[in-house]
Amino acid sequence: MTLQALYTVFVYPIVYILPAYVANASPVLFGKGSRPLDFGMKMNGKRILGSNKTIRGTVLGIASGIVVGAVEYPLFHALDKVPFFSLLAIAVLLSAGALAGDILGSFIKRRTGMESGKNFPLLDQYGFFVVALLLASPLGYMPDAYGLLFLVVLTGVLHVLTNMGAYKLGIKKVPW
Ligand code: CTP
Ligand code: MG
Repeated sequence: MTLQALYTVFVYPIVYILPAYVANASPVLFGKGSRPLDFGMKMNGKRILGSNKTIRGTVLGIASGIVVGAVEYPLFHALDKVPFFSLLAIAVLLSAGALAGDILGSFIKRRTGMESGKNFPLLDQYGFFVVALLLASPLGYMPDAYGLLFLVVLTGVLHVLTNMGAYKLGIKKVPW
């Protein structure tokens, strides 16, 4: 494998997706004690989103992703002459998309009658990832097909490892 290939398949995809990962992971640090996004409202007797999707977690999660993108993108794109505004727009859409996907996942989980925090395989791991990429894709600069494939694997592995870690550290109540 050439250095260029290593960069496009492994390094660039991580640099690209990092704002979405940070936006998705940071609410667990910020959400405690914040009001639920759905203000406790129900739909057909079931919570719209549940208590685990909070206002502070959502706002600060999106903000964290944007800050991370604004700092790291210019470093890695230094030679690509991509305007800072485009980089910022990608970070905004990836971060907002990550939270939108996560929230959409909770909406679906509640409609199926699943309690907050219960495990819904694939939706829990990939909801944020798919919506983030869909929202940001019109702006271009997406990783290529091999890079995306690598990210699909990485996202699944990281989700399992970070949730396990957060559980061991006492940040999360359940290990998923
Ligand atoms: N969190 C938050 N706001 C969000 C997403 C997450 O405050 N928009 C915080 C909450 O404290 C939540 C924790 O992060 O308990 C873990 O989030 P997550 O695993 O996404 O939620 P679940 O507990 O699995 O709830 P759900 O079943 O609705 O997915
Ligand atoms: Mg969960």
